[in-house]
Amino acid sequence: MGPGKIARKFARDLREVPHAELYAVASRNYGRAEAFGKEYNATKAFGSYEALAGDSDVDAVYIATPHALHKEYSLLCLSRGKAVLCEKPLAMDTTQVKEMTAASKAHHVLLMEAMWTAFLPHFQAAMQKVKAGVLGEIISIEADFGFRSPYNPTARLFNKQLGGGSLLDIGIYPLFLSLSILGRPVDMEARATFFENGADSSCHITLLYNNGAKARLFSTLLKETPTVAVIRGSEGTMKIHPRFHESSSFTIEKEGKTKQFNFTSRGEGFVHEIVHFCNLLREGGTESPVMTFDTSLQLTGLLDEVREKIGLHYE
Ligand SMILES: NC(=O)c1ccc[n+]([C@@H]2O[C@H](COP(=O)([O-])OP(=O)(O)OC[C@H]3O[C@@H](n4cnc5c(N)ncnc54)[C@H](OP(=O)(O)O)[C@@H]3O)[C@@H](O)[C@H]2O)c1
Repeated sequence: MGPGKIARKFARDLREVPHAELYAVASRNYGRAEAFGKEYNATKAFGSYEALAGDSDVDAVYIATPHALHKEYSLLCLSRGKAVLCEKPLAMDTTQVKEMTAASKAHHVLLMEAMWTAFLPHFQAAMQKVKAGVLGEIISIEADFGFRSPYNPTARLFNKQLGGGSLLDIGIYPLFLSLSILGRPVDMEARATFFENGADSSCHITLLYNNGAKARLFSTLLKETPTVAVIRGSEGTMKIHPRFHESSSFTIEKEGKTKQFNFTSRGEGFVHEIVHFCNLLREGGTESPVMTFDTSLQLTGLLDEVREKIGLHYE
């Protein structure tokens, strides 16, 4: 559902997943669904999302609509017994996420946030090293994500009615990294700049932790930034190379030596999350042990807190 930019990458990677098939595509417009379906070899095309949700041969739905519509379409699919892999952010706020996870539980149907980074080999290896104490006690994290996109208030990236702005779109990645390493902060500071329609153009966040650790995070739609993550510990420093959320390498600097670790991801990187999701579906799972409901809830909770601090409100 939502045959836009990311759905194209997803459809390409789906071809590399054994036993998975792009069976149907749904758009608000039949012609767009048909064209997408032809390009990626789908059996069926639908001119409405409701029609796809009602097709008895659909096992699972990938939701790639703008953020503001994630909840509505996830609930639609879950209520029809379709497993849901929904793009990040899972929803606009924690109230919505709770509604979605409750629906998954009530219908006993799989729901997962498509936070693809969590499944990428470099990220899993980096988290293993951090958790194993290779860097010692974590002292600080610095991570940025920025690119320049010309302001267009009607485009998804900027449109406030669709959840536009840097924080929800890309600021979520540095927050996900910090959450994965240090968990929930005890306090935070945040400031932002805004486009004229009120969507945030950049966002600076500092997360503060009990042990004195700090995470300094930044997202922006105004300029290219290195999109690097640096994790400093008492015993060593890890640098996840650009772009850190989809990287193929990181280095660890320790005791005066630097060692590089290299990784290969499958396809354009989405294969990993799709394989995980398909395995869960086949096993009858309703919640991912990797991208858990609690993780999605905590991640959305952080987004909510930052929004409160910077005064970013969506209707
Ligand atoms: N995991 C990743 O790396 C990644 C990367 C980019 C984006 N994303 C996420 O994926 C989602 C979609 O992003 P995208 O860049 O693919 O967006 P996009 O290119 O604008 O595509 C979104 C699609 O949603 C459909 N849609 C349904 N209702 C809509 C509405 N009211 N207004 C506009 N479009 C509507 C549109 O298809 P029809 O009009 O044909 O129905 C459109 O093609 C976002 O939540 C984003 O955070 C994830």
